[in-house]
Amino acid sequence: MKGIVLAGGLGTRLYPLTKITNKHLLPIYNKPMIYYPIQTLVDAGIREIMIVTGGNNAGDFLKLLGNGSDFGLKHLNFTYQAREGGIAEAVGLCEYFAEGQKVVIILGDNIIERSVKKAVSRFKKQKEGAMIFLKKVRNPREYGVAEVIGRKVKNIVEKPRRPRSDLAVIGVYMYDNRVFDIVKTLKPSGRGELEITDVNNAYIKEGLMTYEMLSGGWADAGESIDAYNDTINFVRRRGAYKK
Ligand code: DAU
Repeated sequence: MKGIVLAGGLGTRLYPLTKITNKHLLPIYNKPMIYYPIQTLVDAGIREIMIVTGGNNAGDFLKLLGNGSDFGLKHLNFTYQAREGGIAEAVGLCEYFAEGQKVVIILGDNIIERSVKKAVSRFKKQKEGAMIFLKKVRNPREYGVAEVIGRKVKNIVEKPRRPRSDLAVIGVYMYDNRVFDIVKTLKPSGRGELEITDVNNAYIKEGLMTYEMLSGGWADAGESIDAYNDTINFVRRRGAYKK
């Protein structure tokens, strides 16, 4: 199974911090933001990782991360998303890298306290389809929101005005290799992006989506300037920076 970290986009919700640099290069306490999602993949046993960059200062990722030796890796892969075409568009750039395998994808601004290794192992055994993580939140309107019946996800709505649950879809997604075919069928949303929520709903429609409740802390550092600062405090408090 291969890993993908998505670090494109313009990070406009953090303006002016992101006017001249890439959101994922900003500090979260004592490390650049992108260190955390890479570490999450490495802790889950993933050794082959692609970084999708884009927007400002894409070249700085190479300087910062090099061959991945800070994470005990021998090699890192990089690709470039030319415009902010959405999370699913960024995923589509990794078809060649995936070489027919399953993939675990993490958003470059998502910081996760505990290891997801067990869920990754369960997904490795899942014959086909996809797996997502859900977490109860106080502000579901900022996220993809899942409606769940028992062990089944009924549907996901991206940033709903009137959320039908308080279950946010967090930014870690596991897919079989068909994800790349699904991305090719997507149409841009109202905000002009290929949406990861549309990918997830395609799997739900086919009855091939499973989910896990995420235990431990989770933060979306790019959600707002307040969320960014809360994330720094959360990382400091929980000692998540020590690794
Ligand atoms: O954090 C979880 C949420 O992330 C989910 O609940 C939502 O369903 C999902 O759409 C996403 O929402 P955001 O509004 O937080 O996504 P954002 O535009 O901030 O993008 C998240 C990351 O994805 C960002 O840090 C970099 C990457 N990205 C994003 C875009 C739009 C790319 O690599 N390329 C892009 O074109």
